[in-house]
Amino acid sequence: MPHMFVPGPVDVDPEVLQAQTLAMIPHRSKEFETLYRQVEEKSRLLFNTDFRVFLAAASGSGLQEAAVRNFVKEKVLVCINGAFAERWYEVAVSNGKQVDRIDAAWDQPITAGMIPEKMRGKGYESILLVHNETSTGLQNPVKEIASAAREVSPNTLICVDTVSSLGGVKIEMDEWGLDMVLSSSQKCLALPPGLALGAVSDRALEYAQGVPDRGWYFDLVRMEKHRLKDSTPATPAMSLIYALDYQLDRILNEGLENRYKRHESMSKRVQDWALDRGLSLFAPEGFRSHTVTTVKNEKGWDISELNKYLLQKEMRIANGYGPLKGKTFRIAHMGETKLEDVERLLQTMEEFMGAGTG
Ligand SMILES: Cc1ncc(COP(=O)(O)O)c(C=O)c1O
Repeated sequence: MPHMFVPGPVDVDPEVLQAQTLAMIPHRSKEFETLYRQVEEKSRLLFNTDFRVFLAAASGSGLQEAAVRNFVKEKVLVCINGAFAERWYEVAVSNGKQVDRIDAAWDQPITAGMIPEKMRGKGYESILLVHNETSTGLQNPVKEIASAAREVSPNTLICVDTVSSLGGVKIEMDEWGLDMVLSSSQKCLALPPGLALGAVSDRALEYAQGVPDRGWYFDLVRMEKHRLKDSTPATPAMSLIYALDYQLDRILNEGLENRYKRHESMSKRVQDWALDRGLSLFAPEGFRSHTVTTVKNEKGWDISELNKYLLQKEMRIANGYGPLKGKTFRIAHMGETKLEDVERLLQTMEEFMGAGTG
């Protein structure tokens, strides 16, 4: 199997790909209701929630839009220290909301300490935050931020993007007091792209009922009416749901805690390798992602040449994102990737460097 050390879409196990080939069934059928129910039950374990989990035929950005349309009439605050938070900001602005921002440098976390001054007395309906910034390999301290937000503004809904962490890092939605946690299929869940998962609290759904112009496709109130009947308003991505059902069994067989430990040990290995090589990491210690590591390209390697070399061995890594292209490179270690795959990658990178190119 080729190895995509890129932060999504990642490699999908052949058995999971195969699970997509099951025969179609009508979505208005008992068979589909059973499938939907079992998938939702298993998905809750990923979010550590007793609340509902919606499935949408969309990528993660779709649910970023759902959060804005359902949980904001006017005022929203977005925490921004990377490209995907910036996208969420744009989503909110393009939906006509009044959007304020908390900014941190891309190589710095959003901290709980930034919250009180920004939120006190402002009446934000929601605060939007990215857990794992895929563009920088930085993990924001969601638990602490959520706790600070709850303290200073208890009615504000807390929405968190876990697109590149759910299934690779433990997310405790209920314990941390989160109102919406969204993710998508093509990263730590190691599924093909096209399916988004969103867990939503009761109070968030109640709030949505009073929000006008929620649209149709991502109207969570409508989705809830159907979910209560184990179904979806529009035709679901049936093949992807088959694959999710199958993959959730594999994930639970591995054991969630084992899976989280595997991601952590892969990140540690990559970080240690970079530091041992005299390279610096983009994210500061304590805030480094367990699913993607961003390394500063201080030796000025040509990342496309490096990838050409890696591709001969059926591997590839990712260049830096947006303004960080060329200045950093990213090694993703998520989904089904194992420590031995990481070792093989690092060894091949060493060969590239030893060949005088590095
Ligand atoms: C953290 C994060 N949020 C949102 C997105 C957008 O998700 P999608 O491409 O699934 O729409 C991405 C995509 O890489 C991401 O990494």
